[in-house]
Amino acid sequence: MKIKVLLADDEKTFKDMFVKVLVDEGMDVIACDDGLEAIEAIGRESFDVAILDIQMPGADGIKVLREIMSRDPEARVVMLTAFGTVEMAVEAIKLGACDYVMKPVMFDDILIKIRQQYQYRRLKAENEELKSELHGRFGFENIIGESSAMRRVFDTVQKVANTHSNVLITGDSGTGKEVVAHAIHSLSGVKAGRFVAINCGAISEGLLESELFGHKRGSFTSAIADKKGLFETAEGGTLFLDEIGYMTVACQVKLLRAVEERCIMPVGSTETVSINVRVIAATNRDLLNEIKAGRFREDLYYRLNVVGIHLPSLGERKDDIGLLVEHFIKVNNSKMGKNCTGVSDEAMQVLMNYEWKGNVRELQNVLERAIIFAEGDIITVSDIGLTGSGSSIDTSETRENLQDAMRIYEREHILRVLKKCEGDKSQAAKTLNIGLSSLYRKITELGIGDDK
Ligand SMILES: Nc1ncnc2c1ncn2[C@@H]1O[C@H](COP(=O)(O)OP(=O)(O)OP(=O)(O)O)[C@@H](O)[C@H]1O
Ligand SMILES: [Mg+2]
Repeated sequence: MKIKVLLADDEKTFKDMFVKVLVDEGMDVIACDDGLEAIEAIGRESFDVAILDIQMPGADGIKVLREIMSRDPEARVVMLTAFGTVEMAVEAIKLGACDYVMKPVMFDDILIKIRQQYQYRRLKAENEELKSELHGRFGFENIIGESSAMRRVFDTVQKVANTHSNVLITGDSGTGKEVVAHAIHSLSGVKAGRFVAINCGAISEGLLESELFGHKRGSFTSAIADKKGLFETAEGGTLFLDEIGYMTVACQVKLLRAVEERCIMPVGSTETVSINVRVIAATNRDLLNEIKAGRFREDLYYRLNVVGIHLPSLGERKDDIGLLVEHFIKVNNSKMGKNCTGVSDEAMQVLMNYEWKGNVRELQNVLERAIIFAEGDIITVSDIGLTGSGSSIDTSETRENLQDAMRIYEREHILRVLKKCEGDKSQAAKTLNIGLSSLYRKITELGIGDDK
């Protein structure tokens, strides 16, 4: 690709020489004799880098710069300054020019600058492209569902995406709360900041506070340097607070202040930092019950639940099972280089009648396993390894090797403990004597749902 330079300078001899240098370097040039001509040219043609002399009759370089910036704030503009116009060069930088060069110009220097600016612009464009590709991955196309319940969800997602409102997503484990949170962020437009997620149930109280709000060096023993919190990292974008139901009341108070006042105070700091972040919270707990039990603050609930999205369990939208099966087969085919074409009628019957306690995640896991086992192109009942209607791990003798048997026992034991702890994962992890994050991993691996 040729670099296209817009050059505006009223000194004819200098300009002609400069044009020749640029052309010799293999660049395209739009040469303008003064500011007015340049303004006309930018309305007509696109360019990669603009070189503007500051002092020109008609419209000076600053005026042309303003015009360029109003059309494209990302434009790369280098100013040419002569003795006595350095002050104006500084102003130009403030207005968005990226560099300036003193006259008399050393052509080698300015060629380097042009190439640098061109590279920057190209990398930036590539980056934007990758970002929007990523957004596409998390947009609607990967959230499968045509049931009326899911259509309502899509409708709300679409509407809320263009606002700044906080959102509370509820639903059982594996129903797609995180994918919906991603979709809301993606649809809010590529210009938004980052999507930053944190699992409030997997982090101890003290640490959660410093993760969210950041800390100052020395504010506690291990704080060896200042650290930015996730609120600041998510500036201009979305902070996804997963498993908000597990946040302690003390931390809820601080979070409430942050969402109410739109500012935070890092741990150990005395200064507030203002923030512009959309909060999306998710939980599989019944927060109204938690409020009654005094474990969740009502005021925070209303601040987060400006828009509520409830994800139906898979059992409530059985119409979607067929589509989801098709989707997961396609995804796994390309991931594993397989060529499955579908499931047998009998297998579909089993999938439809099964009680999906782990919802979409469990269905996804079952299909992934089935595709690994499948010998033919069609997935059969024995490939999916579902027995009866409650456990997605095959207990028939044919598959009962030691590893499977251990998984079955592990799954049942974890389910038992979770039930005993009424779904409280921190408590269950303590009882099981494993870390909370290990418990989360096992829940995912073993396809455990939350409606034990
Ligand atoms: N509608 C859907 N279409 C396609 N895939 C989905 C859908 N819903 C969920 N999934 C997939 O199922 C898995 C679980 O989804 P996700 O992590 O969003 O669930 P969750 O509700 O956050 O669960 P948990 O409460 O356990 O964190 C993910 O791999 C996700 O890609
Ligand atoms: Mg989740």
